[in-house]
Amino acid sequence: MENLPKSSWIKSDHKRSAYQIALLAWYDQNMRELPWRENPSLYKTVISEFMLQQTRVATVLPYFQKWITQFPDFVSLSQASEEKVMKAWEGLGYYSRARNLQRLAKIAAAWKEPPPTLEEWQKLPGIGPYIAAAVTSISLNKPEAVCDGNVVRVLSRVFAIEDRFKDGATAQKKIRPLAQFLIHQDRPGDYNQAVMELGATVCHRSSPLCSTCPILSYCKSGKHKDWNKYPVILPKPKKTATIRRYWVENADQIILYNSQKNRLQGVLELPEDLPNNPGISEQETKLLATRKRTIGQVEYTEEIYKLLNHRLFQKPLPKGYQWIKWSEINRFTLSGPHRKWISELRYIKDPP
Ligand code: ADE
Repeated sequence: MENLPKSSWIKSDHKRSAYQIALLAWYDQNMRELPWRENPSLYKTVISEFMLQQTRVATVLPYFQKWITQFPDFVSLSQASEEKVMKAWEGLGYYSRARNLQRLAKIAAAWKEPPPTLEEWQKLPGIGPYIAAAVTSISLNKPEAVCDGNVVRVLSRVFAIEDRFKDGATAQKKIRPLAQFLIHQDRPGDYNQAVMELGATVCHRSSPLCSTCPILSYCKSGKHKDWNKYPVILPKPKKTATIRRYWVENADQIILYNSQKNRLQGVLELPEDLPNNPGISEQETKLLATRKRTIGQVEYTEEIYKLLNHRLFQKPLPKGYQWIKWSEINRFTLSGPHRKWISELRYIKDPP
């Protein structure tokens, strides 16, 4: 979308203002009570927007509450151990967000004043255009438009945008100028949250609640009842991959692996290899279970093989591998799916 939509109410200052007022009035009446909206602070906004970036509100709520109790401000977060921070994030996924938050806290703990511009925020760890706009608009009252998936859905329906976007990120980039053109200058944070809130609670992906929508009279596809045509985001071919995992257990412990470098740094999972064990043959393992999970565009099938005799696993363990006592497993940070699979599979009998 190179230009603003043609032949629409958008060019009339009066109509644009009436649209903003209708949306803000709806938001004032209907905004959800969310903990980061109670006594808001820059810290709460940063934490909530990091958590919400890839994750839905219902999932974030219990994490947010616990996080604020455990790390009430940038200083306490900057001084916490990395293990504590990762543990508090356990199950939210995309763990680089937690590491970046702590890096950011170490910088923010020394601030007299937070950086005032979007550009400066974007230079900070883990901050892209979305979080920079959300934080500067909500906490610093800067007129910077956010453009996430909800905003794309709302605006592409309001203006019946026919462009075919190759993926969600492209759609967000192309629609951002339109979002920026529409932002309310005096209440930018509320305006941004109002559009996101409308996307989350009214303008649903399927079966939107058009009859209750405060901006139906501005919405081209709502009036034509063809909202299901927008936005046009081309489906990405799904990739699949199979990963072999190993379950190595003795009487009171299990071996888990912590990758030292990739996105899972600091997060334990069932190991993908049995290193230093060239002698282990297929006959000495049995398929315990198969589990599926999707990360980004890839659907992984994870086959979990049990090593039938743990003594085959040589000592000492290579770097990254750890025997974890069952009695202590809750103290460690495991990826969400692996924690779930391990607790499901722990008590099943040996495979036949
Ligand atoms: N999604 C992400 N951030 C949000 C916010 N502040 N309000 C509503 N929805 C959101």
